[in-house]
Amino acid sequence: MKQLEDALKLNSKIIDDFFRTNLPKETGLHSNLLKSIKYSLVSSGKKLRGYLVFETGKMISKENGFNIDDNKLKQLLVAASAVESIHTYSLIHDDLPSMDNSDFRRGKKANHIMFDEATAILAGDALQSWAFELISNPNNIKSAEVRSEMILNLARGIGMSGMAAGQQADIDLQNLKIRTNDISWIQEKKTGCLLKCCVIFGFLIGKGYDDQKKALINYANNLGLAFQIADDLLDLRGSKEKIGKPVGKDLSNKTPNFVNLLGENEARKKSEIMVDKAIESVKIFGNNAKNLVLLAKYSIERDM
Ligand code: IPE
Ligand code: IPE
Ligand code: MG
Ligand code: MG
Ligand code: MG
Repeated sequence: MKQLEDALKLNSKIIDDFFRTNLPKETGLHSNLLKSIKYSLVSSGKKLRGYLVFETGKMISKENGFNIDDNKLKQLLVAASAVESIHTYSLIHDDLPSMDNSDFRRGKKANHIMFDEATAILAGDALQSWAFELISNPNNIKSAEVRSEMILNLARGIGMSGMAAGQQADIDLQNLKIRTNDISWIQEKKTGCLLKCCVIFGFLIGKGYDDQKKALINYANNLGLAFQIADDLLDLRGSKEKIGKPVGKDLSNKTPNFVNLLGENEARKKSEIMVDKAIESVKIFGNNAKNLVLLAKYSIERDM
């Protein structure tokens, strides 16, 4: 896992450099908004979703015999940064008192504690639209077709039938008797949909073929379920210092998840099955998929 952790560190540095270069200076009447965005976005988080964009794009290019030139890497960087911007928005809102009510994130005070609720809500809003600005700018993504496909997929993936839908059900089903299928549905939406966008971005920029897309979506769906179960296990057994967020939240919030429904051991077994399925999905790419295979393993072996 050391190899992957080092790769994630390098990936974080590249994406953080992009943020530092491209975020506006924190001045003006709205300086609090800019400070709060920078506070949550830069130098924090594993940036695993951004890594997934890069690695998918590189893998698809290699697989189909295309060059991975600077232009392609720049497009992947924009796409990775956009996804991380969306992800940070989702976490800022997820921590709000009206949602998970969590005061600690990525090893420091949650955005609404460091600033205030209004600023945290607005920072999330602005991060969401910035992501769309990044991928819809023709200077960033040259091909109109790739651009519009990216916008469509992201809009769908995080909206009323995607991530936001999952977050809604996650809250509405707290305290209720839940079924396995409902949890799978919630986790596919709240976590899987954004991961699906990551592989689709890599697929589009890397210029993949339809059967490759199917395999990647299958991978992302299974990765999403495994990743969320691991997150739920870390909420139960992880260390606050390592995960950088409070533990025991899902018990107190009665979050509808597999750890709460099946118990720790069954949930862990389920996550292992999901990882196996994810790895199976990318078998068609052979050795070119080695980093995606490693990422799938890491998704449940991680301690942060
Ligand atoms: C946390 O995601 C939220 C989930 C969907 C489980 P990460 O564990 O990727 O959070 P960061 O970005 O590293 O902080
Ligand atoms: C969050 O799931 C999923 C999204 C933000 C979309 P969790 O609520 O389990 O994430 P953490 O544990 O707060 O990071
Ligand atoms: Mg939540
Ligand atoms: Mg939460
Ligand atoms: Mg969690």
